[in-house]
Amino acid sequence: MNKREMVIVLDFGGQYNQLVARRVRECHVYCEIYSYRTDIAKIKAMAPKGIILTGGPNSCYEEGAPTYSKELFELGIPVLGLCYGAQLMQHILGGRVERADKREYGKTEVAVDTSSTLFAGVAPDTTCWMSHFDYISGLAEGFVSVARSADCPVAACENTARGLYGIQFHPEVLHTPEGTKMLYNFVRNVCGCAGDWKMDSFVEQSIRAIREKVGSGKVLCALSGGVDSSVAAVLLSKAVGDQLTCVFVDHGLLHKNEGDEVEAVFGPSGNYNLNFIRVNAQQRFYSKLAGVTEPERKRKIIGEEFIRVFEEEAKKIGAVDFLVQGTIYPDVVESGLGGESAVIKSHHNVGGLPDYVDFKEIIEPLRDLFKDEVRKAGLELGLPEYLVFRQPFPGPGLGIRIIGEVTEEKVRIVQDADYIYREEIARAGLDQDINQYFAALTNMRSVGVMGDERTYDYAVALRAVRTIDFMTAEAAEVPYEVLNRVMNRIINEVRGVNRVLYDLTSKPPGTIEFE
Ligand code: XMP
Repeated sequence: MNKREMVIVLDFGGQYNQLVARRVRECHVYCEIYSYRTDIAKIKAMAPKGIILTGGPNSCYEEGAPTYSKELFELGIPVLGLCYGAQLMQHILGGRVERADKREYGKTEVAVDTSSTLFAGVAPDTTCWMSHFDYISGLAEGFVSVARSADCPVAACENTARGLYGIQFHPEVLHTPEGTKMLYNFVRNVCGCAGDWKMDSFVEQSIRAIREKVGSGKVLCALSGGVDSSVAAVLLSKAVGDQLTCVFVDHGLLHKNEGDEVEAVFGPSGNYNLNFIRVNAQQRFYSKLAGVTEPERKRKIIGEEFIRVFEEEAKKIGAVDFLVQGTIYPDVVESGLGGESAVIKSHHNVGGLPDYVDFKEIIEPLRDLFKDEVRKAGLELGLPEYLVFRQPFPGPGLGIRIIGEVTEEKVRIVQDADYIYREEIARAGLDQDINQYFAALTNMRSVGVMGDERTYDYAVALRAVRTIDFMTAEAAEVPYEVLNRVMNRIINEVRGVNRVLYDLTSKPPGTIEFE
Protein backbone atom coordinates (compact mmCIF):
# COMPACT_ATOMS: atom_id res chain seq x y z
CA MET A 1 0.00 0.00 0.00
CA ASN A 2 1.12 3.55 -0.69
CA LYS A 3 2.24 5.57 2.27
CA ARG A 4 -0.81 7.43 3.45
CA GLU A 5 -0.80 11.19 3.90
CA MET A 6 -1.75 12.09 7.41
CA VAL A 7 -2.29 15.16 9.53
CA ILE A 8 -2.07 14.80 13.30
CA VAL A 9 -4.27 16.72 15.70
CA LEU A 10 -2.63 17.12 19.09
CA ASP A 11 -5.37 17.37 21.68
CA PHE A 12 -4.89 19.93 24.45
CA GLY A 13 -8.31 19.36 25.99
CA GLY A 14 -10.55 21.59 23.88
CA GLN A 15 -14.22 20.80 23.35
CA TYR A 16 -13.84 20.93 19.60
CA ASN A 17 -10.91 18.57 19.07
CA GLN A 18 -12.94 16.03 17.07
CA LEU A 19 -14.46 18.77 15.00
CA VAL A 20 -10.96 19.75 13.91
CA ALA A 21 -10.34 16.18 12.79
CA ARG A 22 -13.66 16.05 11.04
CA ARG A 23 -12.99 19.25 9.09
CA VAL A 24 -9.64 17.90 8.00
CA ARG A 25 -11.29 14.69 6.82
CA GLU A 26 -13.78 16.84 4.92
CA CYS A 27 -10.78 18.19 3.01
CA HIS A 28 -10.11 14.53 2.05
CA VAL A 29 -7.03 14.35 4.21
CA TYR A 30 -6.66 11.50 6.69
CA CYS A 31 -6.37 12.67 10.26
CA GLU A 32 -5.79 11.14 13.67
CA ILE A 33 -6.05 12.66 17.13
CA TYR A 34 -3.41 12.13 19.79
CA SER A 35 -3.08 13.45 23.31
CA TYR A 36 -0.54 16.22 23.90
CA ARG A 37 1.21 13.65 26.08
CA THR A 38 2.20 11.66 22.98
CA ASP A 39 5.94 11.17 22.70
CA ILE A 40 7.71 13.14 19.99
CA ALA A 41 9.46 9.99 18.75
CA LYS A 42 6.07 8.48 17.97
CA ILE A 43 5.02 11.59 16.08
CA LYS A 44 8.24 11.57 14.07
CA ALA A 45 7.73 7.91 13.23
CA MET A 46 4.30 8.65 11.82
CA ALA A 47 5.80 11.33 9.56
CA PRO A 48 2.68 13.48 9.33
CA LYS A 49 2.38 16.11 6.61
CA GLY A 50 1.09 18.58 9.19
CA ILE A 51 0.30 18.98 12.87
CA ILE A 52 -2.60 20.89 14.39
CA LEU A 53 -2.62 21.89 18.06
CA THR A 54 -6.14 22.20 19.47
CA GLY A 55 -7.64 24.62 21.94
CA GLY A 56 -7.83 23.84 25.62
CA PRO A 57 -9.17 25.24 28.90
CA ASN A 58 -5.84 26.21 30.50
CA SER A 59 -3.54 29.23 30.51
CA CYS A 60 -0.30 28.22 28.85
CA TYR A 61 1.90 30.28 31.21
CA GLU A 62 0.55 28.58 34.36
CA GLU A 63 2.57 25.91 36.04
CA GLY A 64 1.46 22.41 35.10
CA ALA A 65 -0.48 23.58 32.02
CA PRO A 66 -0.38 21.16 29.07
CA THR A 67 2.65 21.87 26.95
CA TYR A 68 4.93 20.27 24.37
CA SER A 69 8.60 20.05 23.59
CA LYS A 70 10.04 22.92 21.50
CA GLU A 71 11.39 20.26 19.17
CA LEU A 72 7.91 19.89 17.71
CA PHE A 73 8.40 23.19 15.93
CA GLU A 74 11.80 22.19 14.60
CA LEU A 75 10.81 19.04 12.71
CA GLY A 76 10.27 20.87 9.43
CA ILE A 77 6.60 19.79 9.56
CA PRO A 78 4.04 22.62 9.29
CA VAL A 79 2.23 23.30 12.56
CA LEU A 80 -1.03 25.16 13.04
CA GLY A 81 -2.05 26.16 16.56
CA LEU A 82 -5.70 26.90 17.29
CA CYS A 83 -6.68 29.07 20.27
CA TYR A 84 -4.73 27.53 23.18
CA GLY A 85 -2.54 25.85 20.58
CA ALA A 86 -1.69 29.24 19.02
CA GLN A 87 -0.90 30.74 22.42
CA LEU A 88 1.20 27.76 23.44
CA MET A 89 3.22 27.99 20.24
CA GLN A 90 4.01 31.63 21.00
CA HIS A 91 4.74 30.90 24.64
CA ILE A 92 7.20 28.15 23.76
CA LEU A 93 8.92 30.08 20.98
CA GLY A 94 9.41 33.32 22.95
CA GLY A 95 6.24 35.31 22.30
CA ARG A 96 4.07 36.75 25.08
CA VAL A 97 0.68 35.54 26.23
CA GLU A 98 -1.29 37.46 28.84
CA ARG A 99 -4.66 37.57 30.50
CA ALA A 100 -6.94 39.96 28.59
CA ASP A 101 -9.01 42.62 30.38
CA LYS A 102 -12.16 40.98 29.21
CA ARG A 103 -13.01 37.62 27.77
CA GLU A 104 -13.66 37.63 24.04
CA TYR A 105 -16.49 35.20 23.41
CA GLY A 106 -18.91 34.55 20.57
CA LYS A 107 -19.23 35.67 16.99
CA THR A 108 -16.59 38.28 16.23
CA GLU A 109 -15.68 40.32 13.18
CA VAL A 110 -12.11 39.75 12.13
CA ALA A 111 -9.97 41.41 9.46
CA VAL A 112 -7.64 38.96 7.72
CA ASP A 113 -4.69 39.46 5.34
CA THR A 114 -5.76 37.59 2.27
CA SER A 115 -2.18 37.51 1.06
CA SER A 116 -1.51 34.90 3.75
CA THR A 117 -1.84 31.34 2.43
CA LEU A 118 -4.12 30.58 5.39
CA PHE A 119 -6.63 33.17 4.26
CA ALA A 120 -6.46 32.77 0.48
CA GLY A 121 -9.98 33.04 -0.92
CA VAL A 122 -11.38 34.27 2.42
CA ALA A 123 -13.22 37.63 2.58
CA PRO A 124 -10.96 40.37 4.05
CA ASP A 125 -13.62 41.05 6.69
CA THR A 126 -15.05 37.79 7.92
CA THR A 127 -16.80 36.36 10.96
CA CYS A 128 -15.21 33.98 13.40
CA TRP A 129 -15.98 32.27 16.70
CA MET A 130 -13.82 33.49 19.58
CA SER A 131 -13.60 31.94 23.01
CA HIS A 132 -10.59 33.00 25.07
CA PHE A 133 -9.43 34.74 28.25
CA ASP A 134 -5.76 35.01 27.29
CA TYR A 135 -4.39 36.73 24.23
CA ILE A 136 -1.12 36.93 22.35
CA SER A 137 0.35 40.29 23.34
CA GLY A 138 3.79 39.82 21.79
CA LEU A 139 4.92 37.71 18.85
CA ALA A 140 7.90 35.40 18.84
CA GLU A 141 10.73 36.31 16.49
CA GLY A 142 9.98 35.74 12.82
CA PHE A 143 6.19 35.85 13.26
CA VAL A 144 3.82 38.47 11.83
CA SER A 145 0.18 39.10 12.66
CA VAL A 146 -2.14 38.25 9.75
CA ALA A 147 -5.56 38.84 11.34
CA ARG A 148 -7.00 41.12 13.98
CA SER A 149 -10.28 41.83 15.74
CA ALA A 150 -11.37 44.84 17.82
CA ASP A 151 -10.03 43.24 21.02
CA CYS A 152 -7.33 41.05 19.63
CA PRO A 153 -4.22 42.43 17.87
CA VAL A 154 -3.12 38.90 16.91
CA ALA A 155 -6.18 36.95 15.79
CA ALA A 156 -3.80 34.94 13.58
CA CYS A 157 -0.06 34.89 13.01
CA GLU A 158 2.49 33.12 10.86
CA ASN A 159 6.12 32.42 10.32
CA THR A 160 6.04 31.16 6.75
CA ALA A 161 9.76 30.43 6.61
CA ARG A 162 9.32 27.84 9.37
CA GLY A 163 5.83 26.72 8.35
CA LEU A 164 4.32 27.78 11.68
CA TYR A 165 0.81 29.26 11.95
CA GLY A 166 -1.50 30.27 14.76
CA ILE A 167 -5.20 31.15 14.80
CA GLN A 168 -6.71 32.58 17.98
CA PHE A 169 -10.30 31.77 17.03
CA HIS A 170 -11.97 28.45 16.15
CA PRO A 171 -12.04 27.78 12.38
CA GLU A 172 -13.45 24.29 13.06
CA VAL A 173 -16.89 25.40 14.29
CA LEU A 174 -19.74 26.34 11.99
CA HIS A 175 -19.93 29.81 13.58
CA THR A 176 -16.75 30.55 11.62
CA PRO A 177 -18.37 30.29 8.18
CA GLU A 178 -15.08 30.44 6.28
CA GLY A 179 -13.22 28.27 8.80
CA THR A 180 -13.17 25.13 6.69
CA LYS A 181 -11.56 27.15 3.91
CA MET A 182 -8.82 28.18 6.34
CA LEU A 183 -8.20 24.58 7.43
CA TYR A 184 -8.29 23.53 3.77
CA ASN A 185 -5.65 26.17 3.02
CA PHE A 186 -3.49 24.77 5.79
CA VAL A 187 -3.71 21.06 5.01
CA ARG A 188 -3.79 21.33 1.24
CA ASN A 189 -1.73 24.42 0.47
CA VAL A 190 0.67 24.77 3.41
CA CYS A 191 1.16 21.06 4.17
CA GLY A 192 0.78 20.09 0.51
CA CYS A 193 -1.60 17.17 1.09
CA ALA A 194 -3.05 15.82 -2.16
CA GLY A 195 -6.49 15.24 -0.65
CA ASP A 196 -7.19 11.76 -1.96
CA TRP A 197 -8.55 10.23 1.25
CA LYS A 198 -12.14 8.99 1.20
CA MET A 199 -14.50 7.08 3.48
CA ASP A 200 -13.63 3.82 1.75
CA SER A 201 -10.15 4.24 3.19
CA PHE A 202 -11.70 4.35 6.65
CA VAL A 203 -13.60 1.13 5.98
CA GLU A 204 -10.53 -0.61 4.54
CA GLN A 205 -8.30 0.55 7.32
CA SER A 206 -10.79 -0.38 10.04
CA ILE A 207 -11.20 -3.88 8.63
CA ARG A 208 -7.45 -4.32 8.67
CA ALA A 209 -7.11 -2.96 12.21
CA ILE A 210 -9.97 -5.15 13.49
CA ARG A 211 -8.45 -8.29 11.95
CA GLU A 212 -5.14 -7.52 13.57
CA LYS A 213 -6.68 -6.90 16.98
CA VAL A 214 -9.10 -9.83 16.99
CA GLY A 215 -6.82 -12.48 15.52
CA SER A 216 -8.66 -15.77 15.92
CA GLY A 217 -10.74 -14.48 18.86
CA LYS A 218 -14.48 -14.73 19.12
CA VAL A 219 -16.50 -11.56 18.83
CA LEU A 220 -19.90 -10.74 20.22
CA CYS A 221 -21.75 -7.76 18.83
CA ALA A 222 -24.61 -5.91 20.40
CA LEU A 223 -26.86 -5.32 17.42
CA SER A 224 -29.79 -2.99 18.00
CA GLY A 225 -30.79 -2.49 14.38
CA GLY A 226 -29.98 1.22 14.60
CA VAL A 227 -27.56 2.81 12.16
CA ASP A 228 -24.53 2.72 14.43
CA SER A 229 -24.67 -0.86 15.58
CA SER A 230 -25.71 -2.09 12.12
CA VAL A 231 -22.70 -0.41 10.52
CA ALA A 232 -20.45 -1.73 13.30
CA ALA A 233 -21.83 -5.26 12.90
CA VAL A 234 -21.42 -5.37 9.13
CA LEU A 235 -17.92 -3.89 9.44
CA LEU A 236 -17.03 -6.64 11.91
CA SER A 237 -18.62 -9.30 9.76
CA LYS A 238 -16.50 -8.18 6.79
CA ALA A 239 -13.42 -8.25 8.99
CA VAL A 240 -13.77 -11.52 10.90
CA GLY A 241 -16.67 -13.37 9.25
CA ASP A 242 -17.77 -16.41 11.18
CA GLN A 243 -15.95 -15.44 14.36
CA LEU A 244 -18.71 -12.90 14.89
CA THR A 245 -22.00 -13.53 16.65
CA CYS A 246 -24.60 -10.77 16.78
CA VAL A 247 -27.02 -10.68 19.64
CA PHE A 248 -30.12 -8.61 19.30
CA VAL A 249 -31.87 -7.98 22.59
CA ASP A 250 -35.50 -7.10 22.24
CA HIS A 251 -35.86 -5.19 25.50
CA GLY A 252 -39.45 -4.29 24.78
CA LEU A 253 -38.54 -0.63 24.46
CA LEU A 254 -38.21 -0.55 20.68
CA HIS A 255 -40.38 1.06 18.02
CA LYS A 256 -43.61 -0.71 17.19
CA ASN A 257 -42.85 -3.94 15.19
CA GLU A 258 -39.14 -3.15 15.25
CA GLY A 259 -38.02 -6.45 16.72
CA ASP A 260 -39.50 -8.38 13.82
CA GLU A 261 -38.13 -5.91 11.28
CA VAL A 262 -34.59 -6.22 12.63
CA GLU A 263 -34.87 -10.00 12.55
CA ALA A 264 -36.10 -9.91 8.96
CA VAL A 265 -33.04 -7.89 7.83
CA PHE A 266 -30.24 -9.43 9.89
CA GLY A 267 -31.63 -12.83 10.74
CA PRO A 268 -31.07 -16.08 8.81
CA SER A 269 -33.49 -15.07 6.06
CA GLY A 270 -31.68 -11.73 5.51
CA ASN A 271 -28.61 -10.91 3.44
CA TYR A 272 -25.91 -10.94 6.07
CA ASN A 273 -23.79 -13.56 7.71
CA LEU A 274 -23.96 -12.38 11.29
CA ASN A 275 -24.82 -15.50 13.35
CA PHE A 276 -27.85 -13.55 14.49
CA ILE A 277 -29.44 -14.40 17.83
CA ARG A 278 -32.60 -12.69 19.03
CA VAL A 279 -33.27 -12.59 22.75
CA ASN A 280 -36.81 -11.78 23.76
CA ALA A 281 -36.24 -10.11 27.10
CA GLN A 282 -39.19 -7.74 27.20
CA GLN A 283 -40.72 -8.92 30.48
CA ARG A 284 -37.35 -9.04 32.14
CA PHE A 285 -36.76 -5.34 31.44
CA TYR A 286 -40.29 -4.30 32.40
CA SER A 287 -40.02 -5.99 35.75
CA LYS A 288 -36.61 -4.41 36.47
CA LEU A 289 -38.05 -1.00 35.61
CA ALA A 290 -41.20 -1.37 37.69
CA GLY A 291 -41.59 1.53 40.11
CA VAL A 292 -38.47 3.36 38.87
CA THR A 293 -39.05 6.99 37.92
CA GLU A 294 -35.64 8.67 37.98
CA PRO A 295 -34.23 8.97 34.41
CA GLU A 296 -30.61 8.29 35.28
CA ARG A 297 -31.64 5.22 37.27
CA LYS A 298 -33.69 3.94 34.33
CA ARG A 299 -30.69 4.34 32.02
CA LYS A 300 -28.48 2.47 34.48
CA ILE A 301 -30.97 -0.37 34.91
CA ILE A 302 -31.46 -0.78 31.17
CA GLY A 303 -27.69 -0.61 30.55
CA GLU A 304 -26.91 -3.13 33.29
CA GLU A 305 -29.64 -5.50 32.21
CA PHE A 306 -28.25 -5.35 28.71
CA ILE A 307 -24.86 -6.42 29.96
CA ARG A 308 -26.44 -9.26 31.96
CA VAL A 309 -28.26 -10.54 28.90
CA PHE A 310 -25.00 -10.45 26.94
CA GLU A 311 -23.19 -12.27 29.70
CA GLU A 312 -25.75 -15.04 29.53
CA GLU A 313 -25.56 -15.25 25.75
CA ALA A 314 -21.78 -15.22 25.85
CA LYS A 315 -21.84 -18.17 28.22
CA LYS A 316 -24.07 -20.10 25.86
CA ILE A 317 -21.81 -19.36 22.91
CA GLY A 318 -18.66 -20.28 24.80
CA ALA A 319 -15.59 -18.13 25.43
CA VAL A 320 -15.92 -14.69 23.88
CA ASP A 321 -12.97 -12.38 23.66
CA PHE A 322 -14.40 -9.14 22.34
CA LEU A 323 -17.59 -7.16 22.62
CA VAL A 324 -18.46 -4.68 19.85
CA GLN A 325 -20.34 -1.47 20.53
CA GLY A 326 -21.57 1.06 18.00
CA THR A 327 -20.44 4.04 20.04
CA ILE A 328 -19.96 7.15 17.93
CA TYR A 329 -18.17 10.36 18.70
CA PRO A 330 -21.06 12.48 20.06
CA ASP A 331 -21.72 9.69 22.61
CA VAL A 332 -18.09 9.82 23.61
CA VAL A 333 -17.78 13.57 24.07
CA GLU A 334 -21.02 13.86 26.00
CA SER A 335 -19.81 11.17 28.37
CA GLY A 336 -16.70 13.18 29.05
CA LEU A 337 -14.57 10.50 27.44
CA GLY A 338 -13.44 12.62 24.51
CA GLY A 339 -9.69 12.61 24.89
CA GLU A 340 -8.67 15.53 27.04
CA SER A 341 -11.97 17.39 27.12
CA ALA A 342 -14.01 18.21 30.19
CA VAL A 343 -17.07 16.23 31.26
CA ILE A 344 -20.33 17.65 29.95
CA LYS A 345 -22.74 14.98 31.08
CA SER A 346 -22.51 11.38 32.05
CA HIS A 347 -25.66 9.75 30.79
CA HIS A 348 -24.58 7.90 27.69
CA ASN A 349 -24.10 4.20 28.01
CA VAL A 350 -20.56 4.09 26.69
CA GLY A 351 -17.08 3.82 28.00
CA GLY A 352 -16.33 0.23 28.75
CA LEU A 353 -17.77 -2.52 30.83
CA PRO A 354 -18.57 -2.96 34.49
CA ASP A 355 -16.09 -5.09 36.44
CA TYR A 356 -18.20 -8.20 36.63
CA VAL A 357 -18.18 -8.84 32.88
CA ASP A 358 -15.55 -11.28 31.70
CA PHE A 359 -15.09 -10.23 28.07
CA LYS A 360 -11.47 -9.52 27.27
CA GLU A 361 -11.91 -6.20 25.55
CA ILE A 362 -14.35 -3.84 23.93
CA ILE A 363 -14.20 -2.78 20.27
CA GLU A 364 -15.76 0.50 19.20
CA PRO A 365 -14.91 0.87 15.51
CA LEU A 366 -17.00 4.02 14.99
CA ARG A 367 -15.77 5.87 18.04
CA ASP A 368 -14.15 8.68 16.05
CA LEU A 369 -16.98 9.29 13.61
CA PHE A 370 -19.84 11.73 13.53
CA LYS A 371 -23.25 10.49 12.52
CA ASP A 372 -23.07 11.57 8.90
CA GLU A 373 -19.67 9.91 8.60
CA VAL A 374 -21.12 6.67 10.00
CA ARG A 375 -23.80 6.82 7.30
CA LYS A 376 -21.14 7.29 4.63
CA ALA A 377 -19.30 4.26 6.00
CA GLY A 378 -22.59 2.30 5.93
CA LEU A 379 -23.09 3.08 2.26
CA GLU A 380 -19.49 2.08 1.56
CA LEU A 381 -20.27 -1.25 3.24
CA GLY A 382 -23.26 -1.78 0.97
CA LEU A 383 -25.98 -1.39 3.59
CA PRO A 384 -29.36 -0.45 2.11
CA GLU A 385 -30.19 3.25 2.10
CA TYR A 386 -33.36 2.94 4.13
CA LEU A 387 -31.30 1.49 6.95
CA VAL A 388 -28.38 3.87 6.60
CA PHE A 389 -30.61 6.94 6.72
CA ARG A 390 -32.67 5.81 9.67
CA GLN A 391 -32.79 8.35 12.41
CA PRO A 392 -30.91 7.64 15.59
CA PHE A 393 -32.61 5.72 18.37
CA PRO A 394 -31.07 5.69 21.85
CA GLY A 395 -29.80 2.45 23.36
CA PRO A 396 -32.26 2.67 26.29
CA GLY A 397 -35.02 3.13 23.70
CA LEU A 398 -38.48 4.14 24.79
CA GLY A 399 -37.35 3.73 28.38
CA ILE A 400 -36.05 7.29 28.12
CA ARG A 401 -39.02 8.58 26.14
CA ILE A 402 -41.46 7.76 28.88
CA ILE A 403 -41.39 10.21 31.76
CA GLY A 404 -41.82 8.54 35.11
CA GLU A 405 -42.36 4.83 35.58
CA VAL A 406 -42.11 2.60 32.52
CA THR A 407 -44.95 0.09 32.19
CA GLU A 408 -46.01 -2.21 29.39
CA GLU A 409 -49.14 -0.13 28.92
CA LYS A 410 -47.17 3.12 28.59
CA VAL A 411 -44.81 1.44 26.13
CA ARG A 412 -47.81 0.43 24.04
CA ILE A 413 -49.13 4.02 24.08
CA VAL A 414 -45.86 5.63 23.05
CA GLN A 415 -45.22 2.97 20.39
CA ASP A 416 -48.61 3.51 18.80
CA ALA A 417 -48.38 7.30 18.94
CA ASP A 418 -44.86 7.25 17.53
CA TYR A 419 -45.90 4.91 14.73
CA ILE A 420 -48.61 7.34 13.63
CA TYR A 421 -46.24 10.31 13.89
CA ARG A 422 -43.61 8.59 11.76
CA GLU A 423 -46.16 7.50 9.23
CA GLU A 424 -47.51 11.03 8.81
CA ILE A 425 -44.07 12.65 8.68
CA ALA A 426 -43.11 10.20 5.91
CA ARG A 427 -46.38 10.79 4.09
CA ALA A 428 -45.65 14.55 4.15
CA GLY A 429 -42.23 13.81 2.60
CA LEU A 430 -40.39 15.18 5.64
CA ASP A 431 -38.72 12.02 6.89
CA GLN A 432 -35.32 12.70 5.30
CA ASP A 433 -35.58 16.39 6.05
CA ILE A 434 -35.91 16.32 9.83
CA ASN A 435 -32.92 14.82 11.58
CA GLN A 436 -34.73 13.26 14.50
CA TYR A 437 -38.39 13.09 15.46
CA PHE A 438 -40.39 10.93 17.79
CA ALA A 439 -43.28 10.82 20.19
CA ALA A 440 -42.66 10.70 23.90
CA LEU A 441 -45.03 10.07 26.75
CA THR A 442 -45.27 12.76 29.41
CA ASN A 443 -46.20 11.58 32.85
CA MET A 444 -49.02 14.09 32.87
CA ARG A 445 -52.62 13.06 32.88
CA SER A 446 -55.34 15.63 32.52
CA VAL A 447 -59.04 15.94 32.06
CA GLY A 448 -60.56 15.79 28.61
CA VAL A 449 -63.84 14.99 26.99
CA MET A 450 -64.46 12.33 24.36
CA GLY A 451 -67.94 11.71 23.03
CA ASP A 452 -69.98 12.61 26.06
CA GLU A 453 -67.53 11.20 28.49
CA ARG A 454 -64.99 12.72 30.79
CA THR A 455 -61.50 11.31 30.26
CA TYR A 456 -58.43 11.47 32.45
CA ASP A 457 -55.62 10.41 30.16
CA TYR A 458 -52.01 10.98 29.19
CA ALA A 459 -50.47 13.76 27.11
CA VAL A 460 -48.16 12.70 24.29
CA ALA A 461 -45.30 15.07 23.39
CA LEU A 462 -44.10 15.28 19.81
CA ARG A 463 -40.47 16.19 19.25
CA ALA A 464 -38.77 17.04 15.95
CA VAL A 465 -35.34 18.63 15.67
CA ARG A 466 -32.94 19.90 13.09
CA THR A 467 -29.31 19.32 13.88
CA ILE A 468 -26.04 18.81 12.13
CA ASP A 469 -23.99 17.05 14.76
CA PHE A 470 -26.60 16.23 17.47
CA MET A 471 -24.65 18.34 19.93
CA THR A 472 -26.86 21.37 19.33
CA ALA A 473 -30.35 21.29 17.83
CA GLU A 474 -33.38 23.40 17.05
CA ALA A 475 -37.04 22.41 16.99
CA ALA A 476 -38.12 21.77 13.39
CA GLU A 477 -40.97 23.75 11.86
CA VAL A 478 -43.31 20.89 11.10
CA PRO A 479 -46.23 22.29 9.05
CA TYR A 480 -49.30 22.91 11.16
CA GLU A 481 -51.56 20.71 9.06
CA VAL A 482 -49.19 17.76 9.53
CA LEU A 483 -49.12 18.28 13.30
CA ASN A 484 -52.86 18.63 13.32
CA ARG A 485 -53.34 15.38 11.41
CA VAL A 486 -50.97 13.57 13.76
CA MET A 487 -52.83 14.97 16.77
CA ASN A 488 -56.18 13.85 15.38
CA ARG A 489 -55.00 10.37 14.59
CA ILE A 490 -53.26 9.87 17.94
CA ILE A 491 -56.32 10.99 19.87
CA ASN A 492 -58.59 8.79 17.81
CA GLU A 493 -56.42 5.73 17.43
CA VAL A 494 -54.35 5.47 20.61
CA ARG A 495 -56.22 4.44 23.69
CA GLY A 496 -55.15 6.31 26.83
CA VAL A 497 -54.20 9.64 25.21
CA ASN A 498 -56.33 12.79 25.28
CA ARG A 499 -53.78 15.53 24.61
CA VAL A 500 -50.92 16.04 22.12
CA LEU A 501 -48.21 18.67 22.70
CA TYR A 502 -45.36 19.87 20.46
CA ASP A 503 -41.98 20.45 22.10
CA LEU A 504 -40.35 23.69 20.89
CA THR A 505 -37.21 23.50 23.01
CA SER A 506 -33.79 23.77 21.38
CA LYS A 507 -30.59 22.07 22.59
CA PRO A 508 -29.20 23.63 24.69
CA PRO A 509 -30.96 24.16 27.05
CA GLY A 510 -32.97 21.01 26.32
CA THR A 511 -31.57 17.70 25.14
CA ILE A 512 -32.87 15.99 22.04
CA GLU A 513 -34.34 13.13 24.01
CA PHE A 514 -37.35 13.75 26.23
CA GLU A 515 -36.60 12.12 29.56
P1 XMP B 1 -29.45 14.10 23.74
O1 XMP B 1 -30.76 13.67 24.29
O2 XMP B 1 -28.34 13.89 24.72
O3 XMP B 1 -29.17 13.14 22.52
O4 XMP B 1 -29.49 15.50 23.20
C1 XMP B 1 -28.22 13.35 21.51
C2 XMP B 1 -28.34 12.19 20.56
O5 XMP B 1 -27.92 10.99 21.21
C3 XMP B 1 -28.98 10.05 21.24
N1 XMP B 1 -28.92 9.43 22.56
C4 XMP B 1 -28.43 8.21 22.80
N2 XMP B 1 -27.92 7.28 22.00
N3 XMP B 1 -27.58 5.85 23.84
C5 XMP B 1 -27.53 6.10 22.53
O6 XMP B 1 -27.09 5.22 21.80
C6 XMP B 1 -28.08 6.73 24.74
O7 XMP B 1 -28.11 6.50 25.92
C7 XMP B 1 -28.53 7.98 24.17
N4 XMP B 1 -29.08 9.08 24.73
C8 XMP B 1 -29.29 9.96 23.72
C9 XMP B 1 -30.23 10.85 21.03
O8 XMP B 1 -31.26 10.07 20.47
C10 XMP B 1 -29.75 11.93 20.10
O9 XMP B 1 -29.69 11.48 18.78
